[in-house]
Amino acid sequence: MLRDFPRLFLQHTAATRRHLAPELLLRLITPACPLWAAPVDRSPFADPYWGFFWPGGQAAARYMLDNRATVFGRRVLDVGCGCGAGAIAAALMGATKAVANDIDPYAVLATKINAELNKCTVETSTEDYIGTACDDFDTILIGDMFYDEDFAKLLFEWLSKLAAKDKMVLIGDPGRHGLTSRRRSQLQQLARYELPAHCREENHGFTEAAVWRLTSPTT
Ligand SMILES: C[S@@+](CC[C@H](N)C(=O)[O-])C[C@H]1O[C@@H](n2cnc3c(N)ncnc32)[C@H](O)[C@@H]1O
Repeated sequence: MLRDFPRLFLQHTAATRRHLAPELLLRLITPACPLWAAPVDRSPFADPYWGFFWPGGQAAARYMLDNRATVFGRRVLDVGCGCGAGAIAAALMGATKAVANDIDPYAVLATKINAELNKCTVETSTEDYIGTACDDFDTILIGDMFYDEDFAKLLFEWLSKLAAKDKMVLIGDPGRHGLTSRRRSQLQQLARYELPAHCREENHGFTEAAVWRLTSPTT
């Protein structure tokens, strides 16, 4: 399927700016796509996370587009890039290096197509960075990855170590249960965005998304 993916991707997605970062044109699975309402057994894709721009990722992209200094001249790693919007926003805002990373190889293929649509270059990687030192990066970007408690624990412990090494760790999140109040107490809120009505409907229960910075105890 990997070889066929670009064709299937173009067939089952639509280009849209209907999200919090309309500067970015992204091919996504939208309500206009037959796949949106198709039964799971009719989908050629298993778990197409890359087909959606998750509210936490939308907030993170909005923040970078409004706050260029966060990424300008920096080496940015977008972990769990999905459709690639985080890395694309960083590249457009002048990151010297923007790497879109996802353990799902289809996500990085989707990202490459979306980067081309936005006339920018992002590097891609399917390496599992979690637990690694990230020596080649200054900024670590996390869009909407606190959806599972076990994973959230692993992720937060790793991000805390990176923040203690003075990496800038940015987290976009709509209030997922994995970003517990204990974890939130270690974060500084940088921005909060109301989600557009259609986005609230598509993400049941979420009305806003915030961008947080994980700071080391001495920062
Ligand atoms: C909810 S989606 C968020 C996508 C994107 N950041 C956004 O906000 O639109 C989570 C993504 O994390 C990816 N993922 C899960 N575990 C990962 C890991 N250990 N390293 C990199 N990506 C991972 C999934 O494949 C999925 O694409």
